[in-house]
Amino acid sequence: EKSGYKHFMIKEIYEEPEAIESALVGRVTLDGPVLHELKEFDLENVEKIKLVACGTSYHAALVFKYFVEKYANIDIEVDVASEFRYRNIYVDDKTLVVAISQSGETADTLESVRIVKKKGAKVVAISNVVGSTITRESDVTVYMNAGPEIGVAATKTYVNQLVVLYLLGMEILKKKGIWNEDLENDFEFLKRSPNLFRKLLEDFKIDELASYYKNYNHFMYIGRGINHPTALEGALKLKEISYINATAYPAGELKHGPIALLDPKFPVFAIAPQGYLYEKIKSNIEESKARKARIIAITNEGNEDLLKIVDDIIYVPKAPDDMYPLIMSPVIQMFAYLIADMRGYDPDKPRNLAKSVTVE
Ligand code: M6R
Repeated sequence: EKSGYKHFMIKEIYEEPEAIESALVGRVTLDGPVLHELKEFDLENVEKIKLVACGTSYHAALVFKYFVEKYANIDIEVDVASEFRYRNIYVDDKTLVVAISQSGETADTLESVRIVKKKGAKVVAISNVVGSTITRESDVTVYMNAGPEIGVAATKTYVNQLVVLYLLGMEILKKKGIWNEDLENDFEFLKRSPNLFRKLLEDFKIDELASYYKNYNHFMYIGRGINHPTALEGALKLKEISYINATAYPAGELKHGPIALLDPKFPVFAIAPQGYLYEKIKSNIEESKARKARIIAITNEGNEDLLKIVDDIIYVPKAPDDMYPLIMSPVIQMFAYLIADMRGYDPDKPRNLAKSVTVE
């Protein structure tokens, strides 16, 4: 039931605050984050983590990599399942495999789990669907508890994947004896995030922006560090439901080729919070501007610095560096949703796509 909303996708975006609350229930304690599912799981000795997933779930995995490797000397590798399953993956008793699948039925991800299990790896599944195949074939499942998602485009489940992956990262770091003020701030932010999402979803109005940008045929999303996956996810959302050719790059790669594409008809969507790589992305924005590309940037409240350089700006609440992928996700989703709807497409049923990709 769409309960008054025009599409499931927009309904599901507005459900994000409650979805996050459900992901946090029982996992927020006075002693910090706890994933009870993993209590007996040997995480102290993990030295390598391999994450495997497809599509949006793959982007969530990338955020985990940037987050955890910042704090620990753990070798973390992320791969799309359709590649992973055909590689020779080395696992030993210090390797943890994390398989992420909202549906729990994605053929390539399931096959990846089977392959590494045969090699003796321990597998943690992250899934939304209780009793799905991946939950039965993995050693343990951490549910994302987002509730059913009907729209083909992942929205609230992406948000919940991020929440659960942050918790998983914190659990691993804690078990390894790593905890510090930054992580404490991240955890505090996670706890506040349902209300921050509520306010953000109430306040931000980007209809006018969407209506302007819907007429472009191309988009270049750029981001750096932990914000690079947001660029990838923003571009994926836009292309899958609005059929606009959106491409995403780690911004430092621009001058190695893609900047040649930019001109007034090729806008740049920059993921540019004032975090640790801000000056770097800012200079990439300036380079893009020099090619006369129109720039839309998403940044944190209070950043007036970009106003002089970019054409349009969207603000999200100020957050710890690690948490921008979370707080920015409803914005990139809404931007794609509005454009698809304004272009006359049904965002719930994009052409050529299925909610669960159960064949290779
Ligand atoms: O169910 P899964 O998480 O395994 O699905 C993986 C992808 O097919 C999925 O994330 C897809 O990219 C999204 N529906 C895109 O919005």
